[in-house]
This record gives sequence, structure tokens and C-alpha cells, in this order.
Amino acid sequence: MKLFITGGAGFIGSNFIKHILQKYPEYQVTNFDKLTYAGNLDNLADLENNTRYKFIKGDVADEKQVNEVLSQGFDAVVNFAAETHVDRSIHAGARDFVLTNTLGVQTILDAVRKYEIKKMVQISTDEVYGSLELEAKDQFTESTPFQPNVPYAAAKAGGDLMCRAAFNTYKVPVVVSHCSNNYGPYQFPEKLIPFFIFKASKDESVPLYGDGKNVRDWLYVLDHCEAIDLMLHKGVAGEVYNIGGNNEKSNLEIAKIILQELGKPESLITFVADRPGHDRRYAIDASKISRELGWKPKYNFESAIHETIEWYMKNQDWVKRIEERKAQFNPHLS
Ligand SMILES: NC(=O)c1ccc[n+]([C@@H]2O[C@H](COP(=O)([O-])OP(=O)(O)OC[C@H]3O[C@@H](n4cnc5c(N)ncnc54)[C@H](O)[C@@H]3O)[C@@H](O)[C@H]2O)c1
Repeated sequence: MKLFITGGAGFIGSNFIKHILQKYPEYQVTNFDKLTYAGNLDNLADLENNTRYKFIKGDVADEKQVNEVLSQGFDAVVNFAAETHVDRSIHAGARDFVLTNTLGVQTILDAVRKYEIKKMVQISTDEVYGSLELEAKDQFTESTPFQPNVPYAAAKAGGDLMCRAAFNTYKVPVVVSHCSNNYGPYQFPEKLIPFFIFKASKDESVPLYGDGKNVRDWLYVLDHCEAIDLMLHKGVAGEVYNIGGNNEKSNLEIAKIILQELGKPESLITFVADRPGHDRRYAIDASKISRELGWKPKYNFESAIHETIEWYMKNQDWVKRIEERKAQFNPHLS
């Protein structure tokens, strides 16, 4: 299979490319990435001499570039490319988010239709559904209405709706995932888990928004990769699949776990002014992908978070190189 993967220099995309090349010895992967501040070819350094892997620098919102590459003949597209940082979408402006997360998706859909590509997987987020009550037990299902609260989530919802329209209008063979928060190696260190690891490891304060009780459903990145693999091979065109770890943890719990793992005191935790539009709780009902595609998460949170923390501690050079590359590196909370 010839795969066109966008945003493959980011966190989940780079894990997915490695997963695919390892699991399918005959597959070829073209990674198309704009290399924004979050794109990091260092994540894929071990593939430099792999003849089944090719990198092309490009922008998913650039129709000419996308068409030039997709006209070369691909069997399937997996779109990870996105502006992903909620705080940037709030404080630095939503324009790039709309360009990539909405217009970029439409640009790919048009090319998939034009070149009759057999499958497209659109990687989206549970954040499109908005927020759940903290004390409730409900979960997002595939039929929960979209109620995004921050520009990042609204721009992702725009892309997802264009997928729905492309399938219903033109039968473009697209499947859409809505996944919960991921953790694991190669995550850009402005996001909550790596950010807390680096702050704590330097004995710096670990800042929590609001009361720290906001809940996310944490999923190990390789479990997400396995779910995307199933959607790519078995997902039914026009369908939407929720993916989650059934593993709800508050940000405060995550901070405490990291501090404990690193042998640091809880006194490093500080509470800071809450994020505007901060969603209270996310929880995913992943029963559809489990029932229909046979997916279930394999990784146990306690051991996978331990390994993740160990990975960041062993790969501090990886972060140093990011910091050197980005003169204006300015981590925010996720
Ligand atoms: N990280 C999570 O917890 C999570 C959870 C659910 C869904 N998602 C979704 O998964 C996808 C990947 O997330 P991630 O955490 O790996 O993000 P990331 O920020 O680490 O990586 C995004 C990648 O997209 C590239 N990119 C950005 N704009 C581009 C453009 N216009 N054209 C081409 N490439 C572009 C960047 O250079 C980067 O390599 C996103 O679509 C995100 O919405 C992420």
C-alpha cells in the first residue's frame, strides 16, 4: 500500500509512521508536513535511510502542492496535520487553525475525490463535542452534538463537518476519528504531560489551571495508532469512530503521578488563573470501534505513564534540540 500521511513530523503522526513501517513490510509512506514549530523531523531520524519512507515539505491548505503530490498515485491518506495547541488558538489567534484544520481538510478531500483515492482517515478529537459535567457519568458517543468551546476545537469540527459533507454529497470514502488525549514519546513539550515532566525535573513549579480538577480521558499513543490502523483497513466510509482509554484522570492527579514518579514534592504544584473556555471533563464511549472493528486499548496506564516519563528523562537532548531550534519557544499548558 502507498500511504500519504500528513502531519507525520508531529507527535501522533511520527508514532503512526513507525507503527506502519514496522507492521507492514511492503507498505510505502510519504510524509507531507509543513514543519511548523510543532513539526520535528528529529522524531523520524531513525527512518532517514529507509527506502520505504519519503518526506515532502508542504502545506495541506495549499491546493497546488497537495494536488502535485496526490496526483502521483496513492492508495490511502491519513490526515494528522493540524494546529493543535488550544492555548495558542486562544492567545495567538485562530487564523492558522482555520486554515489548516478546516480549509486543509477540504483541500485534501477535494484531491482524494479528484484522484479517486480509495480511503481517507481524518484524525480528529473529542474536543469537538465540548464539555461534560464533572460529577456526571456520561460519555461522548458518535451522535453527541458538536459544541466546541475553543477555537482549536471549532476549527477541527469544521474539518470533520466537511468530511461528512464530502461523503454525503460525493461519496468521498472518508472515515473520521474522535480521540481523547494522547500521551507517549515525541509529544511537543508545550503539552501537559511532557511540560509537567520538564518543569518538575528542573524543580520548577508545575502550574495547574483553575482548581486542577479538569478531567481528560488519557490514551497511550500506540493504542491510538492501532485504532487508526484498523480504521484505515476496516473502517466503513462515511462512519465516525470515537477512540478513548476509559481512563479519566484530573490534571491534578496527573501532576501528582508525575511528581511521585520523579521523587519531587507536591509543593511544586501551583494553581494559576483558569484558561478561558476551559472544558471541564471529556469522556469517551469507544464501544462502537470496539464492537465493529475489534479495537481495545492494550496499554495499562500505570506502566505506560511510567515508561513515558522514563522516555522523556532519557531523551532530554531531544527537548534541548527543540529549545535551540525555537528561539521563541514558549511553552503553555495544554
Ligand atoms: N495529541 C492529542 O492528544 C490528540 C488527541 C486527539 C486528536 N488529536 C489530533 O491528532 C492530530 C495530530 O496531533 P499531534 O498531537 O500529533 O499534533 P502535533 O502538533 O504534534 O503535530 C502536528 C503536525 O502537523 C504539521 N502541520 C501543521 N500544519 C500543517 C499544514 N498546514 N500542512 C502540513 N502539515 C502541518 C506540524 O508541522 C506537525 O508536524 C491532530 O489532527 C490533532 O487534532 C490529537
